[in-house]
Amino acid sequence: MTDEPLSLAVITASVRDGRLGPAVADWFLTQVKERPEFAVQGVDLIDHPLPLILPEPGGTLPIEAARIRESLRSVLARADAFVVVTPEYNHSFPAALKNTVDWFYQEWAAKPVGFVSYGGLSGGIRAVEQLRQVFAEVHALTVRENVALPLAGKRFDAQGRLDDPEPSALSAGLLLDQVGWWGRALRTARGQSPYPR
Ligand SMILES: Cc1cc2nc3c(=O)[nH]c(=O)nc-3n(C[C@H](O)[C@H](O)[C@H](O)COP(=O)(O)O)c2cc1C
Repeated sequence: MTDEPLSLAVITASVRDGRLGPAVADWFLTQVKERPEFAVQGVDLIDHPLPLILPEPGGTLPIEAARIRESLRSVLARADAFVVVTPEYNHSFPAALKNTVDWFYQEWAAKPVGFVSYGGLSGGIRAVEQLRQVFAEVHALTVRENVALPLAGKRFDAQGRLDDPEPSALSAGLLLDQVGWWGRALRTARGQSPYPR
């Protein structure tokens, strides 16, 4: 097993006008930055507006769509692990996130995915439970620990500071322990033999 930092992509799933997502993602990124075993990159889906219409495999794409796909593909392909920062919309997760999962396949495979969720009273956990099924289909492995932030809209101040941060920081630490453990194990395994699918 190599000691090289694990490449972790933290994906902001909300692309709504006036969204809270970047505040939640920034809070989580500050947790990751205390952990030298990760080389972290933020991936905000608002910067990668993939079309809703999926191409045929091998089909040609308009130049702009091809550029967006390639820039996101290279980020996802380089990552050894993912953390998805997602709100809950109508008991599920944002359409932009599903679209992004669907555009790719091997880029997700044999890699761990953790979740930081937020929303109303549920803290986004219904979105996360659905995402576990979706990510299983693209051969990703979701970790058990989930940072859930109920009533998140009321918990960040104007400077992006989280109210009562300690329980969430503890949960984020455990999430990162699990993502790190699986990420290192699966990076080694992918290096030893191709993942069968
Ligand atoms: C279309 C829509 C549907 C929502 N549905 C739910 C829901 O089912 N459960 C919940 O807890 N919160 C729900 N919310 C509240 C959001 O989770 C909350 O406003 C969150 O901050 C949205 O994230 P964003 O600001 O990053 O987009 C909904 C919000 C929107 C805009």
